[in-house]
Amino acid sequence: MPPTSSAHGSGRSCDVTVDADIVDGLRGAGLAGEGDIVLEPLTGGVSCDVWKVETPLGPIVVKRPLPQLRVAAEWLAPVERGTSEVRWLRRARGVDPHIAPEVLAELPGHAFAMRFLPGCPVWKDELMAGRVDLAFAAQVGQGIAAVHAATAHNDRDRAAFPNDEMFRALRVDPFLLYVAQHDSELAPALTALADDLASRKIALVHGDVSPKNILVSADSPVFLDAECAVFGDPAFDLAFCTTHLLLKAVWSGDARLNAAAAALVDAYRSGIGWEDADDLLLRAGKLTAGLLLARVEGKSPAPYLTDREHRRIVRDQARALIAAPQPIDALATNWKRT
Ligand SMILES: Nc1ncnc2c1ncn2[C@@H]1O[C@H](COP(=O)(O)OP(=O)(O)O)[C@@H](O)[C@H]1O
Ligand SMILES: [Mg+2]
Repeated sequence: MPPTSSAHGSGRSCDVTVDADIVDGLRGAGLAGEGDIVLEPLTGGVSCDVWKVETPLGPIVVKRPLPQLRVAAEWLAPVERGTSEVRWLRRARGVDPHIAPEVLAELPGHAFAMRFLPGCPVWKDELMAGRVDLAFAAQVGQGIAAVHAATAHNDRDRAAFPNDEMFRALRVDPFLLYVAQHDSELAPALTALADDLASRKIALVHGDVSPKNILVSADSPVFLDAECAVFGDPAFDLAFCTTHLLLKAVWSGDARLNAAAAALVDAYRSGIGWEDADDLLLRAGKLTAGLLLARVEGKSPAPYLTDREHRRIVRDQARALIAAPQPIDALATNWKRT
């Protein structure tokens, strides 16, 4: 029977084709009956097809990486990142089963099936709606630090995530070096930052800890979307997530987002046991400055910062911070929204 699909619940109509081998894979794993498979595209993704699938065992999510990301600039990415994501999700659940969804099956084409988490809003949507929960922000910091602490200096993890090339292509080049190429004044500092980031092999990095990749469950944050996972510099995850909170602080003018960033950093700091905390916080401050600039001048601009004045506020502070770095805790506290 050919795979069939239809959009449900959202009122959108869509025309989705799922490879027969994905359907076979779901059936082989006991995750689908013999009838039609009903797919509902989940919103948000630029790098993957993500569907909710109703099965006899309850709803699941099927995620399949795309060879080319859906962003304005051409951006190719190896589909093997689907397998890296599966590895990260499993490893994170080994650290704390609350912080990642359970992987149910690996499917052809580096696709996979995971358990659907019902009733869990995306943290970005909560923040954009003005629901800023500082305790939750602290839990995000704790969760990131827990994975870093469990994997720091671990040779098995180092060997399981040899994704330097992918991390360079998806993170170092488009965020730090792309801006360096367009800004001769800051190029030396940004290039040095990129080299430092690429050279550090300390712990298992998620690589995309953004509020849009965190679900708010009753127990804890649930981290999704670990396609960029690499054994690298843990400061990157801290910087990446803090950057998003600081950009949203400018967008909303809401001081609670500075407080959320500070709470996240503070909780993360308490979990640093594998290296000197001050060293890590300074590296994270430098990375945050570079990432803030990248989100207004880089290949992947923050979609909600459409206001020129908002972009100027971010750009001016980011440039000053690249020239005169601050540790990420001071940076979050001193960050101006206007
Ligand atoms: N296990 C899950 N349970 C519930 N919702 C999920 C799950 N996995 C993904 N989603 C939803 O799908 C969206 C896209 O998933 P994500 O893994 O971030 O893919 P992409 O790489 O396309 O961004 C998420 O923002 C979330 O809303
Ligand atoms: Mg995502």
